[in-house]
Amino acid sequence: MPNSRRPPRSPKIGVFDSGVGGLTVLRALVDRIPDASYLYFGDTARLPYGSKSAATVAHYAVGAVRYLQDQGAELLVIACNTATALALDEIKAAAGVEVIGVVEPGADAAAAASRKRNVVVIGTDATISSHAYRRALEARNVAVREKACPLFVPLVEEGWVEHPVTEQVAEIYLSEAFSDDARDADVLVLGCTHYPLIKPLLRRVAPEHVAIVDSAESTALDVARQLHVELPPSSTRTKNEPSAVRQLKFFATDSAEKFRKMGTRFLGLPVEDVVHVDLKE
Ligand code: DGL
Repeated sequence: MPNSRRPPRSPKIGVFDSGVGGLTVLRALVDRIPDASYLYFGDTARLPYGSKSAATVAHYAVGAVRYLQDQGAELLVIACNTATALALDEIKAAAGVEVIGVVEPGADAAAAASRKRNVVVIGTDATISSHAYRRALEARNVAVREKACPLFVPLVEEGWVEHPVTEQVAEIYLSEAFSDDARDADVLVLGCTHYPLIKPLLRRVAPEHVAIVDSAESTALDVARQLHVELPPSSTRTKNEPSAVRQLKFFATDSAEKFRKMGTRFLGLPVEDVVHVDLKE
């Protein structure tokens, strides 16, 4: 990593997502690195990214991360699995600071957790068709079954995180995913920002022997490691309350009020300081 790109120890961290889903990654970051300041950009006017082309996603993502840098971000976390999978190279080329995506940390955690070297990854259509997780896992000698689960994002946004319809949809998706060669898979990677919200439901529906890897958690741990932040043992770790967090500032391309309401549910903390941003095409 060139020196000019190395982030300071307690940097201003820019977190980018297509919408509110990336707040699950921000939450994991806040829990691990409460001393940092955070700038979060949700491209709510242009989501979903999961059904768009690589060129469109790259164009949107590059505009958003440039904005975050203009606001003072010294390290960028691409919370959106779709943007990471489709456009990480373009984002890195456009950014003047260190950029961390969610795919590599998720793949690292999955490879470490899989004794059978056989993993199932679920994500949006775009993430799955990009095969970014497949490439990352095969490079770690892990066999992969990829499964697009496009209905999960709208179900989670509807708030149906513990709904019989979501459970039925999960049963169909996961029974297709854990079939044939993947019957033996022992890890399920949540390759989408929205899926941590249905983790308890997925835990019930997935085969019992399967460990769930949340790329939001793995990414936060990776960022903490890169910043040399000391992690308390998980048994003593507590969720940080808003007063313990230095600064959280949000930018949304659609209504700030809507972001505030929906964001609080995804972050599990009050979302207050929201600025509406109009990115010119
Ligand atoms: N943030 C996206 C992801 O993690 C999901 C929502 C969208 O499709 O924009 O893939």
